Amino acid sequence: MKTDTHCQMKFILAVLFFSLLSGRVMSVDQPSLKQVYKPYFLVGCNYRPDWAEEGAMKNLLVQEFNVITPSNIMKPALIHPRENEYHFEAPDKMVELAMKNNIKVVGHTLVWHNQTPDWFFKDQNGKQASRDLALARMKEHITTVMRHYKGKVLGWDVVNEAIDINDPAKALRESSPWYRTVGPDYIEKAFEYAHEADPDAELYYNDAGIENPLGCERTVALVKNLKSKGLRIDGVGIQGHWGLYFSPEQLEKSILKFKESGVKVMITELDMGVLPGQPPGAEITYTKEWTQKMDPYREGCPKEILNKQALLYGELFKVLMRHSDVVTRVTFWGISDGDSWLNNWPIKGRMNHPLLFDRNLKPKPAYDTLIRITKRPSS
Ligand code: XIL
Repeated sequence: MKTDTHCQMKFILAVLFFSLLSGRVMSVDQPSLKQVYKPYFLVGCNYRPDWAEEGAMKNLLVQEFNVITPSNIMKPALIHPRENEYHFEAPDKMVELAMKNNIKVVGHTLVWHNQTPDWFFKDQNGKQASRDLALARMKEHITTVMRHYKGKVLGWDVVNEAIDINDPAKALRESSPWYRTVGPDYIEKAFEYAHEADPDAELYYNDAGIENPLGCERTVALVKNLKSKGLRIDGVGIQGHWGLYFSPEQLEKSILKFKESGVKVMITELDMGVLPGQPPGAEITYTKEWTQKMDPYREGCPKEILNKQALLYGELFKVLMRHSDVVTRVTFWGISDGDSWLNNWPIKGRMNHPLLFDRNLKPKPAYDTLIRITKRPSS
């Protein structure tokens, strides 16, 4: 008996020691996000290559999440920067980390207008590539990347952000170089090539703002069009770059519409920013007044804002749990506030507070709310 107690003590001390090392103090029986949401859906985060190194970020990632999406390293600009030049080292390392820790991987992203090198769209003379040349490159890219990760990746964001969610007259983002070189059927082609490359992989369409009425309607039309041509599409990814204005009711309506169209739904890049927006292109003068208005929480986020954010995250997850028959994954775009892309977008160098862990990797009220709402009320 004495040895048992001794062992238990040792275990508790070891857990405390590692918790302190990871910057996070938790009790021995503290549940993790991936555990509490197991009956509902996968819970994920983005992945950055430095998080593969031993340390607090890796610990938190492995402890809390069961699916990852690379922030950048699988985008064409990084994995295929020049024709005939692929960089698989960093994503290979990510896949290895995932497999070792029983974490699934989502491939992001094959066909996108951003972070895609120009050479895809230029011929040998530097002129705009023909439709056939651009399609041949698309096929070669999709095939090589997907075959490299065959059997190791759950599914792929095949096409990212192709819909125009604002213009009432235009259904697609016509400024995309894919649209301009290939035409509107580049989306169909991408899904066709992806299915040929790996018939076992799930295939997704991913976009921001498609929970809103126009975006939702256009995404449903896109899904129906692909299906009517016999093409495979498994799911729609709603990015979920939201703020304190977010409406869970509108999201719920769109989830039901996507469900009706016969696809799964995923929240793929979730964050809940607390800073005001700024009209695109507006000139910034970093005066004291500007900072007070546009970057007000440099010294820390006030309690009432954090509580409001927690409430909203809670409302969101209640909707998602209610629809866990169709919602299969919820992925956060970052682990802690310090590593969020929203500190540099749409304005560089601000201090946003959109995620579940603060800059010291301590769980925020939003984290506690997300754990709490999964518990049955005690009778
Ligand atoms: C972002 C990354 O997080 C940043 O590191 C990078 O500088 C720009 O891209 N929609 C997407 C993601 O589909 O790939 C974007 O990720 C965020 C918006």
